Amino acid sequence: MSLVTIAALMPQAEKEGYAVGAFNANNLEFVQAIVAAAERQKSPVIIQASQGAINYAGLEQITAMVRTAAQAATVPVALHLDHGTDFNQVMRCIRAGFTSVMIDGSKLPLQENIALVRRVVEVAHAVGVSVEAELGRIGGTEEHITVSDREAFFTDPDEAETFVKATGVDTLAVAIGTAHGPYKGEPKLDFERLEAIRARVGIPIVLHGSSGVPDEAIRQAVARGVRKINIDTDLRQGFTARLRAVMAEQPEEYDPRKLLGPAREALQQVIEHKMQVFGSAGQVRK
Ligand code: G3H
Ligand code: 13P
Ligand code: ZN
Repeated sequence: MSLVTIAALMPQAEKEGYAVGAFNANNLEFVQAIVAAAERQKSPVIIQASQGAINYAGLEQITAMVRTAAQAATVPVALHLDHGTDFNQVMRCIRAGFTSVMIDGSKLPLQENIALVRRVVEVAHAVGVSVEAELGRIGGTEEHITVSDREAFFTDPDEAETFVKATGVDTLAVAIGTAHGPYKGEPKLDFERLEAIRARVGIPIVLHGSSGVPDEAIRQAVARGVRKINIDTDLRQGFTARLRAVMAEQPEEYDPRKLLGPAREALQQVIEHKMQVFGSAGQVRK
């Protein structure tokens, strides 16, 4: 089927109380593994490309790969720009055929973030493209900041209400204790804050930095209104671990297909497990 928007995926996720996985892709093997996992699990799915992914793969190529995979799929697939920071980049993605974009103004002061997001929402909604924004700062595990420093960047529920009303954004990424990249210890999510934000904004919440978050914490986040879950690091690690193992087992092998094929299978398994935890597995019932 044709690519769908994230906004189109949300009503059923809200009704049934599950989250749709948003999996980062930079190349053919990842696109194939993500769609194969969605097919096997009968799950809706979001494939997202970061600005880094677009620089690596090329905007036209990554769009064409995802569109082609979606057209052959029986499950709905959305193509989303992850952490777009530049208005012009967002416009290029919309023109290329992305069905959803994130405009990440989280490093800006509140009013500047609002102004940037409003500008994107106005254009994107005019052409039927969904918009995600970020309030608070999610950051990376590699940034050596203390827990209390990180908490200073958590999303404020009052601000979230103001932000959503002022921007008309479709989904909101929040800072509640997750971070991008591999965690050193176990992340502690601020579920009370999540509940407070959700009660105020009433729109689907997005959880970034979800790799390495224990399955039970993910389930609790979904129960409190998280409807899109971003996963990148767990995919990179699952794929690369298998690739390293195959290369070690078969040091003479030089056919990339024999090395990348098993890594792609391992990746698909990681994704299928996530879909089961998110509750999106089995939700496509045609
Ligand atoms: O949140 C960021 C994603 O994991 C994408 O990472 O910018 O290295 O492609 P990247
Ligand atoms: P992880 O790499 O920590 O899973 O984060 C992914 C993400 O938030 C992409 O936007
Ligand atoms: Zn992110």
